Amino acid sequence: MKLVFATNNLNKLKEVQQMLPNTIELLSLKDINCFDEIDETENTLEGNAKLKANYITQKYGYNCFADDTGLEVDILNGSPGVYSARYAGEPANSENNIKKLLSELNKRKERKGQFRTAICLNINNDQLLFDGICKGEILKKTQGKKGFGYDPIFRPKGYQKSFAEMNSKEKNKISHRGLAIEKLVTFLSNYNS
Ligand code: IMP
Repeated sequence: MKLVFATNNLNKLKEVQQMLPNTIELLSLKDINCFDEIDETENTLEGNAKLKANYITQKYGYNCFADDTGLEVDILNGSPGVYSARYAGEPANSENNIKKLLSELNKRKERKGQFRTAICLNINNDQLLFDGICKGEILKKTQGKKGFGYDPIFRPKGYQKSFAEMNSKEKNKISHRGLAIEKLVTFLSNYNS
């Protein structure tokens, strides 16, 4: 079965392909000649994941899954959440987003939060949602140089280092995205079309 992962990130694609049974051929957006900008206009992670998966299934006719991730901070009522990529406005980049989040939490003791990934899968006229959560806390300053996004200021619960101090294997094992993908892969591995 051919299955589109609505992403242009080839690292994400390769990682998921390695976890899938070889009866499933994963395709990127480029593989199906989709170069459209799919705007994430919904106000929930699930909404955006659905929007992207539905766009591909409706326009190109493929079974497809899409993901969306946000960092939800308890004391900020779940912000930046679905707006994580553009939290500090334009230009949207990690450095500005981190600066803004650290200033919002300035002098706050309560720094608990979580990364959450939502995945929407469209398969043979069915639609399923999967999620993955990684709880932790927001550090007072950046630690580490690996990873991307908010990794330098996020320390997962039970660990003494930030995501940016972990290698990708270590991070994927406990990360929101890793856990959501694991649920998706388990479903697909048992799926009889
Ligand atoms: P996306 O849905 O994977 O594109 O993620 C949206 C935004 O959330 C990204 O632009 C990052 O700022 C942030 N983000 C998502 N996943 C991670 C992660 O694993 N570590 C740090 N930041 C992340």
